[in-house]
Amino acid sequence: MEDDRIRSLIDTSCTLPPMPMVTTKALTLINDPESSLAELEDVIGKDGNMVSRILNIANSSYYSTLEKIKSIRTAMSLIGYKALGNLVITASMHKFYKKVSLLDKMLWEHSVGTAITAATLSRKFKLMNPDEAMVAGLLHDIGKTIIRQSKSKEYDKIAEKVYNDKSSYFMVEEEILGFTHCDVGSYLVKKWNFPIELGKVIHYHHKIDEIDPERMDTAHIMIIALVDLANQIMHFLGIGYREPEEDVDLSRLKSWQLLGITLEDDDMEDLLEEIKAGVEEEKSKF
Ligand SMILES: [Fe+2]
Ligand SMILES: [Fe+2]
Repeated sequence: MEDDRIRSLIDTSCTLPPMPMVTTKALTLINDPESSLAELEDVIGKDGNMVSRILNIANSSYYSTLEKIKSIRTAMSLIGYKALGNLVITASMHKFYKKVSLLDKMLWEHSVGTAITAATLSRKFKLMNPDEAMVAGLLHDIGKTIIRQSKSKEYDKIAEKVYNDKSSYFMVEEEILGFTHCDVGSYLVKKWNFPIELGKVIHYHHKIDEIDPERMDTAHIMIIALVDLANQIMHFLGIGYREPEEDVDLSRLKSWQLLGITLEDDDMEDLLEEIKAGVEEEKSKF
């Protein structure tokens, strides 16, 4: 089977890291009705600035809670355990992405930009909860980081080829490695038992045309389309890339249709301005 072949290829070429310990412990506590909030605060509190990252995101403009969220306890009661779980994953990625080289830094910047853009779009068009959009945007390219950490010199060459040939990571990875960051990322989050929609987003974000609405959950199609748009907008604006890719015709992307959104040209310009400002304002929270 094709999937098995790709997985064994990934197993021989990449090291799939374990889920960060703090994420494992926090998610276990969040999903355990018997656990106490004090235990959760204790676990998250051990990871340097993780509590403040969670609270900063929970207090960002994506959530319109009337009350300011000052503790994990208030977060749990105001935004709920599922959203808190997504924020824990989001906040724990900061350490997971080692930002040593310029390429690593650009990958991080691109992921954060995609997360903020997905959350902005989801709030503006009332598509889904902001934390779901955010975590999916943040993780969509996690496979690149895994390949990069396992085969660093080879990935530098891939990045160079993408730039010189004006190609995409997806195509160059396939050509050189025989698998892509989508294969690696979706394999990884499956191993980590992350929510199923994250695996779908990672797997399909470069294969929108392969989505068959008859055979996929509407909620899954929505989140894939949302991350596709956020990702393409980041390419267009050059966020996390060496330069903007202005030949992308954003208004013609199929994902607008999948989300049921129609935009006029003027709306698009305003939207891009809003996104740029949002990324600038929110990026330090991650
Ligand atoms: Fe990607
Ligand atoms: Fe991307």
